[in-house]
Amino acid sequence: MFEVLPLLPPDPILGLSAAFKQDNNPAKIDLGVGVYKDEQGNTPILSAVVKAQKVLLERETSKTYITPQGVQGFIDGMLQLILGAQSPVLLADRVAAVQAPGGCGSLRILAELLTRVNADTTVWVSDPTWANHIPLIGNAGLTIETYPYFDKATASVRFDAMMDCLRKVKKGDVVLLHGCCHNPTGADLTKAQWQEVLNVAKEREFLPFVDIAYQGFGDSLEDDVYGVRLLCENLPEVIIAASCSKNFGLYRERVGLAAIVCADSNTRKIAQGQIQSVARGIYSMPPSYGGALVDIILSNDALKQEWVNEVDEMRDRMRTLRGLLVSKLAEYGAQKDFSFVNDQKGMFSFLCITPEQVQKMRSEHSVYFVDSSRVNVAGISLANVDTLAKAMVKVINA
Ligand code: LMR
Repeated sequence: MFEVLPLLPPDPILGLSAAFKQDNNPAKIDLGVGVYKDEQGNTPILSAVVKAQKVLLERETSKTYITPQGVQGFIDGMLQLILGAQSPVLLADRVAAVQAPGGCGSLRILAELLTRVNADTTVWVSDPTWANHIPLIGNAGLTIETYPYFDKATASVRFDAMMDCLRKVKKGDVVLLHGCCHNPTGADLTKAQWQEVLNVAKEREFLPFVDIAYQGFGDSLEDDVYGVRLLCENLPEVIIAASCSKNFGLYRERVGLAAIVCADSNTRKIAQGQIQSVARGIYSMPPSYGGALVDIILSNDALKQEWVNEVDEMRDRMRTLRGLLVSKLAEYGAQKDFSFVNDQKGMFSFLCITPEQVQKMRSEHSVYFVDSSRVNVAGISLANVDTLAKAMVKVINA
């Protein structure tokens, strides 16, 4: 049967890892998939997670099903982390939420829920956005449109153009926003810009859909949720997809949260049942392991502090690497000013070079990153930054 289907090219992000593995150049550099790496290029398990695993091994006495919504302690802990312990929407019992298999699982079940409300819903995504947003949301049957977001020429957010577009969005449309550490550009909205987004959401009555996958990697765990909290505290409805892949380093365990801030507590009950029924019809219920680990960490003061310190450490290292790359590029004579890289936030930097230059970096220098010019900053190290900067200077000055 399946010969009628087309042979697909490799995934634009995950395919890079396979290509990197096949490259025999000992000086190859992997700046592709968004995974944190230490100076040695390893992605170790966070020490708070190692300790939580030991607790779980002792504590877990059964593998029977957990509840359809997932690990309740995980849900409560994550909602407090994102919305704040004293969040008015939590206190008013307005938030429905389930644990989901990763940020991807959250995005998909929320998209499926939107089709139940209205199959003709349009979801506006930033141009550019994370490549996987398109299939995750589009394959649920929703229509995708883009709003202007980033200007490669000035390496900054095209905020006026974005607002002009959002002012035309229809009531009932959905606008996908990156909570922090925009993927792929690393260019975030300022607090004043979030306020303007809130104003236009009120005016146009669109539904904000916040994807927050890098909390803690931008400025701090608290600062990075400024936008999502502002929207949740001032609008009747917001939906949120969160991921624990990056800030808890739980990538393969697939841990995420799908949350729906509803207009009132009664609607919350409806949304809770509906989102669980969406999940039941796709994968029944989430795996418990990763959620149980996050629950253990967030509900123990000492472990939580240890985790916060580890998040701070990852963020500081990525910031230092940005600065290092910018200074090395200048030192080796780059004809382009890359100082904008220092202003970008999170795990990614958008180098604003052409797809041809990205290809050359790969074919001539064995440096792997996404065609859009997105690099995983955590893949840079003291050991490879000189090789990387020299290769880039060769390619861009050519
Ligand atoms: C990325 O953007 O590189 C990560 O979120 C991994 C992925 O699934 O694409």
